[in-house]
Amino acid sequence: MNKREFLKLNALIVGGAMLNPIPSFALFTPQKNNGDFLLPDLDYAFNALEPFVDAMTMEIHHGKHHAGYVSKLNAAIKGTSFEGKTIEGILASIGPEDTAVRNNAGGHYNHTLFWKVLTPNKNTKPSAKLTEAINQSFGSTESLKERMMAAGKTVFGSGWAWLVLGEDRKLAVLASSNQDNPMMLKISPQTGKPIFGIDVWEHAYYLKYQNKRGDYLSSIWEIINWEEVSLRYEAALPKPKNKELFEEWAELNDFHTTMSQTFHPAEGGDLAPIKARSKELAQKAATLAKSSIPAAFSTPQIMEAVQQLERDSKILSRLTRKRKTTDAQITQSLTALHGVFHKIVGLCREGMH
Ligand SMILES: [Fe+2]
Repeated sequence: MNKREFLKLNALIVGGAMLNPIPSFALFTPQKNNGDFLLPDLDYAFNALEPFVDAMTMEIHHGKHHAGYVSKLNAAIKGTSFEGKTIEGILASIGPEDTAVRNNAGGHYNHTLFWKVLTPNKNTKPSAKLTEAINQSFGSTESLKERMMAAGKTVFGSGWAWLVLGEDRKLAVLASSNQDNPMMLKISPQTGKPIFGIDVWEHAYYLKYQNKRGDYLSSIWEIINWEEVSLRYEAALPKPKNKELFEEWAELNDFHTTMSQTFHPAEGGDLAPIKARSKELAQKAATLAKSSIPAAFSTPQIMEAVQQLERDSKILSRLTRKRKTTDAQITQSLTALHGVFHKIVGLCREGMH
C-alpha cells in the first residue's frame, strides 16, 4: 500500500460512516472480481534498484517467479474452501498438508510485500514511532540490521528473514523456510504481522552476488522503503479495546452505559427503557459535551460529533415526550443517535493507535 492508498483508506475510516471498517492490517493484493489473484505492478522500473539489485534479476524475479506463484495459487485454490478468500485469510487457515496453496499463497504474499518495502528513493526514514519500537526491541537500527542479516544468513536453502510485530506488541526478527511466513498461524512456529521481509532465495540475488548472500543482505539495507515499513508498523498495531477508551473518558463511559441499556432493548422491540430514560440520556450527552475531552481525542471531528450527540439526544428526549410520536420515529431517532455514538468511538479508536 503506498502512502496515497493508506491515506485514502484512513480517510474512509475516519469519515466514520462505516462502523466495521476494512481490516487495518492487509496487504494491497489486487484480485479480480472472480477472486483470482493478480500480479501487482512494481512501483519502480526493473533497473531502479541498481546497483544493489540488478535489472535482470528484478525482471525474472517479478515477471517469472512471482507471476508463477500467482498463477499456481489461482489454480490451487480453484474449487476449494480457499477460493474467494483474501490472501491473509488463506494464510491464516492453511495447514501443512495444503502444500500447493502453502507454497504459492506464501510466495504471492511474500513477494507482494517485498516489492513494496524496497525503493530507489534514498531519503526514507523510519517514523518516530517505529524508531522508538526498534530501539526498545533491538537497541538501535544498526542492531536490527545485524539481527536481520544473521536471520537471513542462517536460513538453510531458500527462505525469508522477517521483521514482525508479535502478539506481545513487540518487534521481533524471525526466519522462515521456503515460502512460509509468520502469517501462517497453523504452520509457522512463531507468528506475527510482517512489516518488513528479505527474500533470501537464490533467485533473488544469484545473478549478481552468486554465493555471497551476506553481500546481498547488506545491499538490500540500502534500498529499504522505511516509509512503507513505518506505515505497515502503524497499521499492524492492535486497535485499543473499547474498555481502554472508556477508562480514559469517564463521561463517554457514562453515556455508553445508558445508551446500551436503552438501545439494546429497543433493538428487540422494547421501547419502554428509552421512553423512561431519554431525558437521562440527554443529560448525560450534555455532560459529555461539557467534559474536558482527553487530549488524545481532542480533534475537530470528535468535538463536532460530541456536539451532534448532545443535539440529537435532546431531539430524542423531546420526541419521547410528545403524545403524537410513533414508536417508529423513536426507533429511528435512537438508531441515529446510536450511530453518532459509535462514530465517536470509532474516531477515538483510530486516534489511539
Ligand atoms: Fe523470490
